[in-house]
Amino acid sequence: MKIAGIDLGNDSIKVVHDGSREPVIVPNIVTPGYERHILQEEDSPLKALDVTVYSPSLTHNNRRWFVGLLASELEDNIELEDMDNKALSDQSLVVALTALAFTGITHSSYQTSSFSQTDELEYVIGTGLPVRTYTRFREQFEQRLVGEHEVMFMSTPQLRGRKVKIRIRKAVISIEGAAALFNLATQENLQIQNEEIYNGVIGVCEIGALTTDLPVIRRMNIDNHFSYGEQMGLAGYLDLIIREVEDQFGYTFPSRAKLSQRIKQQNYVIQRIGEGQSSIKPIVDTYFSRAAQRIVDLIKKRWKKCPDIQCFYVIGGGAAALKPYLIDAAGPIKLRFVQDSELQNVYGYLKVAKNRVNQSLTTDTAQ
Ligand SMILES: Nc1ncnc2c1ncn2[C@@H]1O[C@H](COP(=O)(O)OP(=O)(O)OP(=O)(O)O)[C@@H](O)[C@H]1O
Ligand SMILES: [Mg+2]
Repeated sequence: MKIAGIDLGNDSIKVVHDGSREPVIVPNIVTPGYERHILQEEDSPLKALDVTVYSPSLTHNNRRWFVGLLASELEDNIELEDMDNKALSDQSLVVALTALAFTGITHSSYQTSSFSQTDELEYVIGTGLPVRTYTRFREQFEQRLVGEHEVMFMSTPQLRGRKVKIRIRKAVISIEGAAALFNLATQENLQIQNEEIYNGVIGVCEIGALTTDLPVIRRMNIDNHFSYGEQMGLAGYLDLIIREVEDQFGYTFPSRAKLSQRIKQQNYVIQRIGEGQSSIKPIVDTYFSRAAQRIVDLIKKRWKKCPDIQCFYVIGGGAAALKPYLIDAAGPIKLRFVQDSELQNVYGYLKVAKNRVNQSLTTDTAQ
């Protein structure tokens, strides 16, 4: 049986397996799939995830989907919107199962025999929900994940025709941001690595694509009273930038993913048809400063309401994107940033799942 952490992000789904620090990130984007004309096969399966998915939890079954990078290139791709609830989203489940199937058969020591045979994978997974949806949707989310699902790879290079059965035996659901802090507080073997976080009162601001979570953690327990979530994230600001770039330069980014890729690479120059090049940096600066100001206001408000918070960790992909703007907006208020900020949750989910498996092993033997 495998243990994996999986973060069903509205922007991207992250998977990490026990025993491998190497995470896999798949953009949470799909389009309906079809027989592709392939001029040149892609050099990695991740560039062309083309699958048919069956799951008792999906509304529409046995449909063919292009998933992740392949879908992000296409015009009719679907990215998630504010109203989407990741606990109930079919799209997120399709991408998640595809990611688990891919990582399961390629990433670990697990080797299967020949083609045409079905690979069978059994999982205990750790995952999470935002503060705002956790209480109401945790149970439903768990039920959707647990069970037997099937992913068939279609035109994906190296995996063409492989059928993967995924049996999820158990899903341990944590809270976004809180799991990230658990990761920061503990080592790989779950021993304490940071006393201050482990025993302190810590504020977290986890900036995602569609949600921002602000759990307050006391000695590794969630504070019910002060923890809080906002229905906003970086995606809304990326959409505003896309619109503004369109208005000013007549240049259209096909997806948020394409824009944020550019920003990540600090490549702000766009090629206009027949009109040379322009920089979108001033537009990015305007909207990102605005986003940062709003986040800093949220943090200040939290800190005022709960003055025993010792320090505030700002994490998630949004923190990586907004870091210089947040520092600027925060003025004298000190915020803490960490490396690999968008992966802290998924590492935390894996540790929580491992912890649970260890616990049940010890109680099993004790009984
Ligand atoms: N270094 C970076 N520079 C610019 N943008 C980034 C960077 N890292 C992540 N992003 C963007 O930040 C946003 C949030 O990323 P993150 O991975 O935290 O979202 P998510 O977990 O998928 O969403 P949610 O938490 O709402 O479900 C995304 O739009 C992503 O593209
Ligand atoms: Mg997230």
